[in-house]
Amino acid sequence: MSELTPPIYETEALIGEDIDAYLELHQHKSMLRFITCGSVDDGKSTLIGRLLYDSKMIFEDQLASLEADSKKLGTQGQEIDFALLVDGLAAEREQGITIDVAYRFFATEKRKFIVADTPGHEQYTRNMVTGASTADLAVILIDARQGILTQTRRHSYLAHLLGIQHIVLAVNKMDLVDYDQARFDEIVSQYRDFADGLGMKAFTAIPLSGLAGDNVTQNSDNMAWYQGSALLPHLESVELQQEAAQAASFAMPVQWVNRPNLDFRGFSGLIATGRVAPGDAIRVVPSGKNSTIKSIVTMAKDGTEQRLDEAVAGQSVTLTLDTEIDCSRGDIIATADNPPAVADRFEATLIWMDEEALLPGRSYEMKIGTQTVAASVQTPKYQVNVNTMEHLATKTLELNAIGVVEISTTQKISFAPYAENRALGSFVLIDKMSNATVAAGLLHFSLRRADNIHWQATDIDRNAHAQLKNQKPLLLWFTGLSGSGKSTIANELEKILHTMNRHTFLLDGDNVRHGLNKDLGFTDADRVENIRRIGEVSKLMVDAGLIVLSAFISPFRAERDMVREMLPEGEFIEIFVDTPLEVAEQRDVKGLYKKARAGELKNFTGIDSPYEPPLNPDIRVNTAQMSAQEAAQHIVNQLFGL
Ligand code: ADX
Repeated sequence: MSELTPPIYETEALIGEDIDAYLELHQHKSMLRFITCGSVDDGKSTLIGRLLYDSKMIFEDQLASLEADSKKLGTQGQEIDFALLVDGLAAEREQGITIDVAYRFFATEKRKFIVADTPGHEQYTRNMVTGASTADLAVILIDARQGILTQTRRHSYLAHLLGIQHIVLAVNKMDLVDYDQARFDEIVSQYRDFADGLGMKAFTAIPLSGLAGDNVTQNSDNMAWYQGSALLPHLESVELQQEAAQAASFAMPVQWVNRPNLDFRGFSGLIATGRVAPGDAIRVVPSGKNSTIKSIVTMAKDGTEQRLDEAVAGQSVTLTLDTEIDCSRGDIIATADNPPAVADRFEATLIWMDEEALLPGRSYEMKIGTQTVAASVQTPKYQVNVNTMEHLATKTLELNAIGVVEISTTQKISFAPYAENRALGSFVLIDKMSNATVAAGLLHFSLRRADNIHWQATDIDRNAHAQLKNQKPLLLWFTGLSGSGKSTIANELEKILHTMNRHTFLLDGDNVRHGLNKDLGFTDADRVENIRRIGEVSKLMVDAGLIVLSAFISPFRAERDMVREMLPEGEFIEIFVDTPLEVAEQRDVKGLYKKARAGELKNFTGIDSPYEPPLNPDIRVNTAQMSAQEAAQHIVNQLFGL
């Protein structure tokens, strides 16, 4: 054996004595990330236990969460008690089942492995997606007695959706069907029909027994009819995602720009795909500027700079260019002859991961590579039933739902279809208020419509309109509970402004809902769309030079902020009509609170639908303390500094 691969017992001794030396030893091996899908009954823990046990190279810290006994045994390598190890793993996964994905590390002479063990039930779809998004391979476990189950189909669909190239159909518990070839062939043929329907090009079926150890690390005499390789040798030999990524065209999302002094300007990031060398022609997207790679710099272990002749996908480097060109965080440096595409409208698959359902029209933060932009999602085209692959009509996506949507971003982003390039085609959506990751997404293709509709520049612009009216256009946005007094105050305010010769227009919730928005109700999604449309209409009227008064409950901060962002700085004035629920309910001008309390009116704001008060309104009025006229006068004073 070479120096790098000493006999097992030596490596084992190293784990305990010198963890750094142990890590160094493994550093030069390739790493395969894989995911196991199945349920406890399929013998998943036993199979994982068997892989860990037979590979005999377990990290001490990975056993930290197991029983103290098995931990002690773990450091003794060969003497790990298999049953104890499996018990420990099963207990660990039972505890972990409700939270997340359990990652385990092990290594053989040929490779290092990270196995993500995710819970199998449908309510853990998002966990599986997390584990699968970085995996090179998926082991889909089947109990030979049971055959293909609903969850086999779900797991396979997800693994395929997330672009996992290598699928292993592990037909487990062969010992319990007398190592019967006919049974194995039957399962494989059924699975092949299913896989064809999914568009899965290939899979590798392996008959095995985790418990008895057949075909796990080496081919078993019990199944001499099986000609393929055992599971572990297969895992040791499949092509890695990383290797595939290195074969693609070069692209590196820029993470930050380094400028320690005037002579040095470097662009740092993780190479997503391909390889790059000094002298290569590159293009910066989206700007489209061309240049040439001057040098590739990386940090050596001892902290000194090192110049490289070449760098490949998976490496973090700093690139310098021949010419000074504009390039900043979020841009992509790519090969000049095949740069990623740039667009602002897409079709994508979304996997919804939040308790709060998707709100079509809401502005979410989208992170794709190192780019962060605002994005909104249209009503889903359909949702996929992950058990039957049927397409279902839907208006939203709930927790764990998977659907196909159209998504648009406020700025153009560079991307590649996920099927071609996982790094440039995957994204997450983040809720701007809670900062929670609400969805994972896979881009399919760009929609060209945006390219064909150009903004028409007109000669009489918003300034010209405003000048003629001799006023600064504004959007006065009233928000507050139903019955808080928004319309009444807005009406009083408009009267005062009218006497001041101001050109105004009042948009009111009840009225707009009779016309433009008569198709909308009061679900969260409809309220988001209500405010989006009113925001757009208000903006047009502000562009026409008017002082617009908009009185809508507008219960969500996100949509009020969205309208604020549509207008130039200072033109959106948020007026919070701060009437306590008790007061509004007591007035109950329209008798709606009474109905809501009686359960005759659903989704009523303040009762069974939320209201998010402004955190920092421009103007606040309290109608428990002021009359409507006083409130209107107070607003005029604030606006015009009277
Ligand atoms: S918003 O939430 O989408 O901004 P909007 O201001 O347009 O609401 O409409 C609110 C008005 O609709 C209320 O003043 C009330 O008269 C009426 N309404 C009817 N049903 C509801 C409901 N479920 N919740 C709130 N308002 C309702």
